[in-house]
Amino acid sequence: MKKEYQELIKAANRAKLNAYAPYSKYYVGAAVLTDDGKIFSGCNIENSSYGLTICAERTAIFNAITQGMSKFKAIAIVSNNSEVITPCGACRQVLFELAGDIDIIMSGSSKKIKIVRLKKLLPLPFTGNNLK
Ligand code: THU
Repeated sequence: MKKEYQELIKAANRAKLNAYAPYSKYYVGAAVLTDDGKIFSGCNIENSSYGLTICAERTAIFNAITQGMSKFKAIAIVSNNSEVITPCGACRQVLFELAGDIDIIMSGSSKKIKIVRLKKLLPLPFTGNNLK
């Protein structure tokens, strides 16, 4: 695996340490890689009003967007589960709009890793083009 992807997984693991998940106890970390090699991370943040929870992937990409980033290469996602974590449907849609067809690096606590392009996970994304 590319060295920058290994660094990205490390950053996702660091972010996972800050996950606020007292309800599910499912701790998730994510980190996005920009075109020019910068890394921005995020964790899942839950709420007692469960539906207000935000996933790690969206926290990470929103963090990058907030810092003025607009071109992305990849996102790494890790959890405290031994199986690789695959991003939820809402995150796939948000990532596709903000980052395009990037590499999705999915990892589990037992070092299993799967890398696929986002388009493979979200074949027919909604683009809103028909609304314009
Ligand atoms: N979660 C993520 O952070 N990313 C995913 O791709 C799936 C789910 C979080 C949301 C919630 O805090 C917990 O995992 C259990 O669903």
